[in-house]
Amino acid sequence: MNLKFIPRKFGLLCLVAIWYGCSTPQEESVTGLITEKAMVVSAHPLASDVGKSILQQGGNAVDAAIAVHFALAVVYPEAGNIGGGGFFVIRQKEGTYHSLDFRERGPLAAHPDMYLDENGEVIDRLSLKGHLASGVPGAVDGMVKAHEKFGSLPWADLIQPAIDLASEGFVLTEGEANKFNRAKENFQQYSTVDPVQFTGKDWVTGDRLVQTQLAETLTRIRDLGREGFYAGPVAEYIVAEMERGGGIISLEDLEKYESTWRDPLVGQYKDYKIITMGPPSSGGLIILQMLGTMKDYPVSNKGEDYAAYLHLKTEMERRVYADRAAYMADSDYYPVPIEALLDEAYLKSRFLTFDPEKATPSAEIQEGQLLSMSEETTHFSVVDPMGNAVSCTTTLNGGMGSSVVVDGAGFILNNEMDDFSIKPGHPNMFGVLGGEANKVEPGKRMLSSMTPTILEKGGELYMVVGTPGGSTIPTSVFQTIVNVIEFGMGMQEAVNEKRFHSQWQPEVISYEQGALTGNLQQALESKGHVLTERSGIGRVDAILRLPDGRLEGGADPRGMDAAAGF
Ligand code: GLY
Repeated sequence: MNLKFIPRKFGLLCLVAIWYGCSTPQEESVTGLITEKAMVVSAHPLASDVGKSILQQGGNAVDAAIAVHFALAVVYPEAGNIGGGGFFVIRQKEGTYHSLDFRERGPLAAHPDMYLDENGEVIDRLSLKGHLASGVPGAVDGMVKAHEKFGSLPWADLIQPAIDLASEGFVLTEGEANKFNRAKENFQQYSTVDPVQFTGKDWVTGDRLVQTQLAETLTRIRDLGREGFYAGPVAEYIVAEMERGGGIISLEDLEKYESTWRDPLVGQYKDYKIITMGPPSSGGLIILQMLGTMKDYPVSNKGEDYAAYLHLKTEMERRVYADRAAYMADSDYYPVPIEALLDEAYLKSRFLTFDPEKATPSAEIQEGQLLSMSEETTHFSVVDPMGNAVSCTTTLNGGMGSSVVVDGAGFILNNEMDDFSIKPGHPNMFGVLGGEANKVEPGKRMLSSMTPTILEKGGELYMVVGTPGGSTIPTSVFQTIVNVIEFGMGMQEAVNEKRFHSQWQPEVISYEQGALTGNLQQALESKGHVLTERSGIGRVDAILRLPDGRLEGGADPRGMDAAAGF
């Protein structure tokens, strides 16, 4: 069992809450911010405050989500972005669901062998850093599309807070100063013009980060919408950057980029409806496969039973991540067998080899391939006073993306091309494999693990949840949902809980420091599992609707994440 309270982190959370003037103080160590009507939980307190302010002005959840997205591009540039992409899952108060895919796309000149040398070997880091690592950014088109369909406040009002943060700057914490100092060398190596806004000095706590070029770019987006990014000076800056650095994104790529409304995946687990992201994300399929399998097994986090649950979870993860490698990709390019993967009989058949006492070796589960994700992404959750909800996960892929800052436009480009399988069957830099379904193709979207998710109970909004974390995203979302639904935790407690992750290959259970309480280690090892400690898994930002209709935020204490609301 692992229900330990975290008083030190609670203290930190309180401090953050007080410092940024969150409206309601936290009531006890494992209870998050509680509000009556509306809430935003994001990776940065300033972005959460921007969202809260939009909601206070009468904006709806989509308005707030757009404003938070642009604010994160300024105050959380390692993952917040205009040079990347992501997914929205939206639940309107009347119970309709929508998902918006603003994932990056492979440039028109991309091809399956673009990261291989003349001998067919993978060229080290080419898909990860520098100009060839970037897919065509989707974030700005996504925000425009979301606003066209659901926005209620003027577009300009949603961008202005980000412009102000970029032009006036914001004060860096020690952690932020260190982060920019660590990123400096990569920026200098991979950007063609030294991006002084990040590299000009050694940052110290209390410095103010001003991003003048980014403010100008955001101003163009404010005034011209989509045309402010995909055409005119910003598009020309991107293409000039590509030409200087040997990249391939062209004006035609930018002109042709379109985000896409897709039907979200909707599944049922006991009394709960799960509304989540379908392809090109694998995340929704993964959590629905796992919940669809788990419903036949009683689970508990009490005493010995917690090891049994973790064993079950790991065995499910091995099987669904094997499926991911073989069957999941951009469904516009590859026929992802969604219904077959979620078919009840299929899920049962996959688990015929499950032994409650013994780990199944991954090699016996399925021959196949798996691709890895780097872990810098960001998630935020929004609920507005009308009851609309947005779950958004967005990314540059790796921390600071490709480490290329577009000179003149002042934003960081993604390195999302590494989410393609750059050579089927070849281990990437994380030692895992990729599959044929997800090979590089022009215009195609690279497979994602991002899992923005909304839960309903009894036809009412119940939870908004998601996280960064690369291939650990679906399992952190799954674990958070199970912590609440099955183990009776509140939102903050479920988010605080130590996490475990497994993904078929490598054949290990990763766990966070402090997760192995009691005799958990012995119990799992006796079933044949290999355990590896690693640093924090995910940064879940979630909102739970309490039985009395109030909202509880779960802001992940692993980062400086914060809830704000009223
Ligand atoms: N780049 C992380 C993901 O899309 O899963």
